[in-house]
Amino acid sequence: GQMHGLTLLDADGAVIRKALLWNDQRTGAECDEIRETVGLDRLVEICGNDALTGFTAPKILWVKNNEPEIYAKIAQVLLPKDYVRFCLTGDYASDRAGGAGTMLFDLKSRSWSQELIETLGMKMEWFPPTFEGTEITGRIHEEAAEATGLKVGTPVVAGGGDQAAGAVGVGAVKEGIGMLSLGTSGVIFASAKAPVIEPTGRMHSFCHAVPELYHMMGVVLSAAGSLRWYHDTFAEGMDYDTLVGAAGDVPAGAEGLVFLPYLTGERTPHADPLARGAFVGMTVRHTFAHMTRAVLEGVAMALKDNFVQMQSAGVAELTEIRVTGGGAKSPVWRQIIADVFGAAITSVNTTEGAAYGAALLAGVGAGEWESVSAACDASIKAVETVVPKTENVEKYNKTYEVFRKLYPDLKDRFAELSEL
Ligand code: XUL
Repeated sequence: GQMHGLTLLDADGAVIRKALLWNDQRTGAECDEIRETVGLDRLVEICGNDALTGFTAPKILWVKNNEPEIYAKIAQVLLPKDYVRFCLTGDYASDRAGGAGTMLFDLKSRSWSQELIETLGMKMEWFPPTFEGTEITGRIHEEAAEATGLKVGTPVVAGGGDQAAGAVGVGAVKEGIGMLSLGTSGVIFASAKAPVIEPTGRMHSFCHAVPELYHMMGVVLSAAGSLRWYHDTFAEGMDYDTLVGAAGDVPAGAEGLVFLPYLTGERTPHADPLARGAFVGMTVRHTFAHMTRAVLEGVAMALKDNFVQMQSAGVAELTEIRVTGGGAKSPVWRQIIADVFGAAITSVNTTEGAAYGAALLAGVGAGEWESVSAACDASIKAVETVVPKTENVEKYNKTYEVFRKLYPDLKDRFAELSEL
């Protein structure tokens, strides 16, 4: 389930405007309005998160402020995938990972927050009942059966937001086992038995797709996206194995060259659209391969930067990190991540990510397995584990101490550059 989007329906169940999706950034003013109306501390206390432009609640206020005639017709608010569910079953329903991503959820009680909804002038009846990821919310009706080829009566479960479902798809379903995803953006994800909240709300704190569990995650906007930019700009036509393979021969720490991967701004822990990328520490000693290595290391360190915030908020130490996403296919990058995090990195036999996790949730809902853990144990196998190299861990701990100071040092310069 794509998270954070806004699909608006009228009293007849008809869509009344194009959906505003998760990556829509138009709501800066509405985020300020929410912080002012609710108070940042209270907002974070209830929903676990600061107001981010991509989240659902500010989008509803944007419609109120800019399209009052549409706002007046709202009878139902759905996430995009829950509109697909409605088309399949005729029921309004959502999952709790998705609900938490709207910013209108009470994280502790895993249900809509009447206080947030009413303080922001919205109505409780606009929001669908929510279910745990494995619960059946409805069944395929006749028209949907004709359209899809699925049998009438096939159960449809709640499922989960894509990151939470992706975590299920690699077996990251208990404390201590994390998921690290290296797609265009990168995610570091950790499960928790109780809500873990970063006091300023700058790390994402949501319900897990696993019943009763929670999760915290950090999102680095340009992860494998940084490597793709670097390849396309400096090494077009070179295959990725040759490019990244050469970086494997450069010592850990790239002899003092550091890359900041904020090529498209950043989301966590620095919510800063004006943040920029940088190579810092270049000397005549550095070669093309050093720069490649610095890119791979910079992405790993930005993910660690998130994990450090997550740990200080109370997330458990990770003893194993399960990797997924295109970038995780590189053995050199996997070793760098193991060394930067000082944790074992495991690749698993599943490559479908969130879709595989959603299928496992459906299997549990349909009675195939008795729990999500049992479904994961039966279906997901570790295929390779990379363990950290002690000498590199020490080296990276020192490099990370420099890395983490560079964004605060350069933040104001980035803002000035964006004015030019
Ligand atoms: C999660 C997030 C994305 C979207 C779109 O916070 O923004 O994973 O769900 O895929």
